[in-house]
Amino acid sequence: MRLRDCNNTEDFRRLAKQRLPAALFHYIDGAADDEVTYRRNTAAYEECDLVPRVLAGVEDIDMSTTVMGQKLDLPMFFSPTALQRLFHHDGERAVGRAAEKHNTFFGLSSLGTVSIEEMANTISAPKMFQLYYHKDKGLTENMIERCKDAKFEALTLTVDTIVGGNRERDLRTGFTSPPRFTLGGVLSYATHPYWTLNYLFREKFSLPQLDAYVSEGTAVATSVSDYFSTMLDQSMDWKAAEWVAKTWGGHFCLKGIMSVEDARRAVDVGATAIMVSNHGGRQLDGGRSPFDQLAEIVDAVGSDIDVICDGGIRRGTHILKALSVGAKACSGGRWYLYALAAAGQPGVERAIAQMRAELERDMKLCGARNVDELTRGNLRFR
Ligand code: LAC
Repeated sequence: MRLRDCNNTEDFRRLAKQRLPAALFHYIDGAADDEVTYRRNTAAYEECDLVPRVLAGVEDIDMSTTVMGQKLDLPMFFSPTALQRLFHHDGERAVGRAAEKHNTFFGLSSLGTVSIEEMANTISAPKMFQLYYHKDKGLTENMIERCKDAKFEALTLTVDTIVGGNRERDLRTGFTSPPRFTLGGVLSYATHPYWTLNYLFREKFSLPQLDAYVSEGTAVATSVSDYFSTMLDQSMDWKAAEWVAKTWGGHFCLKGIMSVEDARRAVDVGATAIMVSNHGGRQLDGGRSPFDQLAEIVDAVGSDIDVICDGGIRRGTHILKALSVGAKACSGGRWYLYALAAAGQPGVERAIAQMRAELERDMKLCGARNVDELTRGNLRFR
């Protein structure tokens, strides 16, 4: 299988599986417990049908949307995700360049492998930084200050990782950051020599947002789940979120809101956006999907802040349905990480170009010329 054979997210997933050592593939692909929520995140879109309109004169389609003060050409963006240089040696650089080409948000993680400063200096796409609220307040504050100096357009506080999710695929493979070449995993690394040589001989693995403060994740191998449980501050509460919002002072998003009550409180603490998200089903299994919760959250706070539907998106029609319910934009992680692992920057560019082409075609077939014309009238729930 080659890049030119990839016509959809599932194709990229298959190619990523070929290219990556098993522990890395399953870190991306896996989720918590029985992965029920992970599957629901995508399945929820399939329980909602489109009611197309025709004869609408659709030769020019405007897919632009405004999120946190940024006009995006595409209502789909790259959620912040960790450890990208482990999936392809270009990592965040490849994803950032694809975001730049399509003028959509690039999300940089606290657990990113390229620095805040480098991304700011080299990538002109609008950038959001994803903050993990660490026990080490000096580190948390340092990341906020670095993002201010680097003039990031938005800061996103993740609120659904108060402890690590039970990711049993990672337990099975022994995946850690940095990867350990365990006896059980050696065969998988040996049979993926391209990945292994890149890992061993290219730029050394690092976590440049963190490594001046903590050695876990770099010098000390740790699983992501253990990292959450031991390094993040479990006393984080609404006062903490308000403190982050004030210290940052710019567009502020809470990522991981799933209830109307919390969405309202997000508005109260000064958020200008929320990402309705369950962390790709990687944290709490058995929860509802972002799309399941979207309508009630949009009804409660949609006129006060930007509501983003994060997770489960595999097709342009999924974006179209979420926008019809009232999301300002959609976002996701795996959809582009598969493509990054499959083929680096050309992979990510192909994935986003295909997503864009799907959405454009779907809007034409639904008779919607711009995102404002996507309404609940387009939808019927089964
Ligand atoms: C994860 C984190 C790092 O889900 O976002 O693995």
